[in-house]
Amino acid sequence: MEAETQPNQLTDAELIERVDDALRLFLDRRFVSSLNDAIEYSVFSGGKRVRPVLCLRSCLAVGGDLEKALPAAVAIELIHTFSLVHDDLPGMDDDDLRRGRPTLHKHTNEAMAILAGDAMLTYAFQVLASSQVESDTLVKLIGWLSAFTNTMIIGQVYDTMGGYSEEMDPIEQLRETHSSKTGALLHASIVMGAYVGGATDDQHTPLAQYADAIGLMFQAVDDLLDVTQSTEKMGKATGKDAGQGKLTYPGLLGIDGTRAEIDKLLSRALEALSGFDAKADPLREMAQRLATRQH
Ligand code: IPE
Ligand code: IPE
Ligand code: MG
Ligand code: MG
Ligand code: MG
Repeated sequence: MEAETQPNQLTDAELIERVDDALRLFLDRRFVSSLNDAIEYSVFSGGKRVRPVLCLRSCLAVGGDLEKALPAAVAIELIHTFSLVHDDLPGMDDDDLRRGRPTLHKHTNEAMAILAGDAMLTYAFQVLASSQVESDTLVKLIGWLSAFTNTMIIGQVYDTMGGYSEEMDPIEQLRETHSSKTGALLHASIVMGAYVGGATDDQHTPLAQYADAIGLMFQAVDDLLDVTQSTEKMGKATGKDAGQGKLTYPGLLGIDGTRAEIDKLLSRALEALSGFDAKADPLREMAQRLATRQH
């Protein structure tokens, strides 16, 4: 008799397949065809699926049931994709290339990119509402996803328009922006996965610390790759942040300083997981990979 694969032995590729299948089911002819095409163009375009995988991995790390976390994982990827579609608009970062293809507003038009983003944002909550969890758990998840999405939007405001309080020095402004615009959705992925998975109170705090460290680290790496990596490799324009006046890690700390900061955040993430058993190994490996990724 063939041994059944334990959920924790699933590879990232297998988890991504589960997420993609669920995304396909949820999105199947949900909207009018032009809108559906626009959403599918953006959702199925080779994204790394970091957030849904983190959501499922943190559910598994606390011994939870993978299936219960799938709607949350899908919802977060929808919100992430909305954030990228709007991030690329001419009024924001004004980018023509995303995941190796024309950005949605280039492929269709600006109105469609705005509306497809709107639809992904709202539909994410409908998807989340289908989670097979107790109603008080669901209310909490919906509240969290809403709050973390708003934090992401606040981060995007800082990133594009500034507006920090005067007492903040540049490094504080940078941390605030990055942990909001990028860290918040990574944080949401991890705490939602853990909550659905039945994490105890003493598991939540370290997982939230892990989430905060890799959230900031993820954007530090993105900033670094903007100055060290090619457009071809990244599938999006590089070398743009400085010209757009963005506050970035390499801009403030230089390349070596940024690498040192990434190492520090990686150590902090791993330290946060020190009390977890081998079920958290995939989270540890994920942190390592995100620290050293090349695209
Ligand atoms: C890009 O996120 C935007 C940032 C928060 C830096 P990802 O690097 O996760 O993008 P995809 O989903 O893999 O394209
Ligand atoms: C994106 O940050 C953060 C979002 C909330 C979308 P960036 O603007 O640096 O992301 P990229 O480099 O365009 O992917
Ligand atoms: Mg941006
Ligand atoms: Mg951008
Ligand atoms: Mg960037």
